[in-house]
Amino acid sequence: MDRIQITGGASLNGVIPISGAKNAALPLMIASLLTDETLTLANVPRLSDVTALSRILSNHGVDRMVAGKRAGQSAETGQTIALTARTIVDTCAPYELVSTMRASFWVIAPLIARTGEARVSLPGGCAIGTRPVDLLLMALEKLGAEIEIEAGDVVARAPKGLVGGEIVFPKVTVGGTHTALMAAVLARGTTHIVNAAREPEVTDLAHCLVKMGARIEGIGTSHLVVTGVARLTGAHHTVLPDRIETGTYAMAVAMTGGDVLLEGARADLLDSALGTLSQSGAEVSSEEGGVRIRRNGGGIAPVDVTTEPFPGFPTDLQAQFMALMTRAGGTSTIRETIFENRFMHVQELARLGARIRLDGDVAHVEGVERLKGAQVMATDLRASVSLVIAALAAEGTTTINRVYHLDRGFEALEAKLSRCGAQVQRIAGG
Ligand code: UD1
Repeated sequence: MDRIQITGGASLNGVIPISGAKNAALPLMIASLLTDETLTLANVPRLSDVTALSRILSNHGVDRMVAGKRAGQSAETGQTIALTARTIVDTCAPYELVSTMRASFWVIAPLIARTGEARVSLPGGCAIGTRPVDLLLMALEKLGAEIEIEAGDVVARAPKGLVGGEIVFPKVTVGGTHTALMAAVLARGTTHIVNAAREPEVTDLAHCLVKMGARIEGIGTSHLVVTGVARLTGAHHTVLPDRIETGTYAMAVAMTGGDVLLEGARADLLDSALGTLSQSGAEVSSEEGGVRIRRNGGGIAPVDVTTEPFPGFPTDLQAQFMALMTRAGGTSTIRETIFENRFMHVQELARLGARIRLDGDVAHVEGVERLKGAQVMATDLRASVSLVIAALAAEGTTTINRVYHLDRGFEALEAKLSRCGAQVQRIAGG
């Protein structure tokens, strides 16, 4: 397994291109199952989760064409992928394929919407809490699907097709909203999705579905109204920039000091996190071409945060922000309200000298004068990158083991950081 070695202490200066959002690319790719025409997606990041999902989609009969690189495009320019599900050849997504990535469970919605049946293994993914699928199944049932669990698989049937209905989510769920949307667009009649997630990636999916011929009102709000249509067509859609990658590099710069343009980033996708970073002492400005983040001189101020659904502070930036707070001039509290058990980075940050006390869903982070390099272990996607941020500011060398988690969600991480002056290298195997 690869490891990443980081020698801390350098400030970051330069330009970091922001990739297309993983969490938008995945549901958009899945939406290709809804039509027999071609869905072309541009700005798709080169990530192992994208590769894994491509494999799952091929199993259902989706043909994939990846456009070659053009002159002037760098390795980090997102790829353009054309997906065509002319015929669904298999409505079954087996354990071997689904177990590594939770989002792949979402294929259940377009499969049942288009063919009236689906058999999908219960999901895997990051080990951050129990992460059930009860609300996704509830949404499908509200549209008339019959659901059974057989041998670890969810079997969904709607032999006469799905019918519009009212789906009221008791809590905000991104995956639940993606599922409800993809099921409702081909259902007969009107569907109301109440307390829908408003995350930009949900909105991106909704906009793409509209280009494919879907009728959706209330996009960007928590009440979506979908009027089913008989069929959807092909479309061309560009994946929006990754707000979590943006926030992660912004926190890295706030941690090390320096001046970096996050090229292609959109500040409006992460107002809350950027506001928090400003409070911590970083300068954040939106400019043509992206978002600039600076911290020159001045310390890191402690700031309290609570994770919330969009537009609140995202849970996917909680670990990275905690890494930043380990060097703050005082104590901060970080409350995690979305996932229980999403504090696995705490013990690894402690190996670098961080002082963090856990109390239920709250972490009390007491800033320390210095962090020191050590061997650490990546435990999940966002936790791994929090270790990268801490290592960039630690004295000496940190070795991060099990970096396959990083490859799931961060495109060309070492290249992007080294070009801005960080000492980062990947050590293959071992
Ligand atoms: C998505 C993101 C993930 C992010 C999360 C919250 C992708 C690929 N992943 O995950 O990076 O951290 O949103 O912003 O886009 N829940 C239930 N029952 C369900 C479904 C969810 O109780 O059936 C709960 C979850 O346990 C969690 C909360 O709802 O406590 C939110 O989860 P959800 O928004 O569904 O997360 P994902 O879609 O899995």
